Amino acid sequence: MSLLDGRIALVTGAGRGIGLAMALRLARDGATVVVSDIDEAAAAAAAKMIQTGGGTAASIRCDVSDPAQTTASIAFAVQQFGRLDVMINNAGVVRVQPFLEVQPSDWDFIHAVNSRGLFFAVQAAAKQMLTQEPLAPGRPRGKIVNVASIAGRSGRPMFAAYAASKAAAISITQSAALAFAPELTVNAICPGIVETEMWRTIDKQWTEHDGRPVGSAWKDRLQVIPMLRPERPEDLAGIASFFSGPDSDYVTGQSYHVDGGVLMA
Ligand SMILES: NC(=O)c1ccc[n+]([C@@H]2O[C@H](COP(=O)([O-])OP(=O)(O)OC[C@H]3O[C@@H](n4cnc5c(N)ncnc54)[C@H](O)[C@@H]3O)[C@@H](O)[C@H]2O)c1
Repeated sequence: MSLLDGRIALVTGAGRGIGLAMALRLARDGATVVVSDIDEAAAAAAAKMIQTGGGTAASIRCDVSDPAQTTASIAFAVQQFGRLDVMINNAGVVRVQPFLEVQPSDWDFIHAVNSRGLFFAVQAAAKQMLTQEPLAPGRPRGKIVNVASIAGRSGRPMFAAYAASKAAAISITQSAALAFAPELTVNAICPGIVETEMWRTIDKQWTEHDGRPVGSAWKDRLQVIPMLRPERPEDLAGIASFFSGPDSDYVTGQSYHVDGGVLMA
């Protein structure tokens, strides 16, 4: 018997990177996983990966910047599998630019996904979960997990709009935790410097701006990691499983740093 046996989870932005690692881990821990992503083919491939490994999964295209699509993806999960026990709001986007160069369109692009999209995803998941029976007698009715960032904890002059969106994700987590206790738990995970496509984008945009070699922004950031290696998507999978399972039933409103020690250094 695994901790997430029989549970239905939806993970946004799970076509690759951190979301994919979380989806695979939840499936390994027994959950049925609905993989959603704006990239339909990537979502389908991730679901296939889970099925090939013996798990149960389905996929759906969902652009989380459109709350109606998020609501529809939750309805799809319920229609396919009967309920929604776990919602992981992982989809996120970034743009690197100096503070003075951020345009309203940059702000809107980032916040449409990372904060506005996340807010309405939390709302839509809560609306569904609150109609459901508890996971077991005395347990919450559902678990919501938001992917924020250590960037939401301090200033980031080269990605200020992104950092603000992640601070918002941390704040939304706290408000939702209070709004929905004791029926739901709502927690966030703050990754550090993770080797994914997102960091490749950050490095490209940063080095282009500074006129220095591609790869140098990434290399510089690696110097500040006390654990002496880049974070891998898999490093975030265990905490996602913990916040999705019974061991975190008394934990809510928390934003947990999984960053190899970067923030405290
Ligand atoms: N990589 C890092 O160093 C790092 C650090 C801290 C926090 N994070 C956060 O972790 C999360 C995942 O990041 P990642 O590094 O895996 O990024 P990634 O770019 O590798 O993957 C992001 C996934 O989200 C999907 N996506 C993008 N926009 C979407 C939208 N509008 N709707 C639905 N899906 C969308 C993409 O198609 C992709 O599959 C993000 O919220 C990110 O901000 C990443």
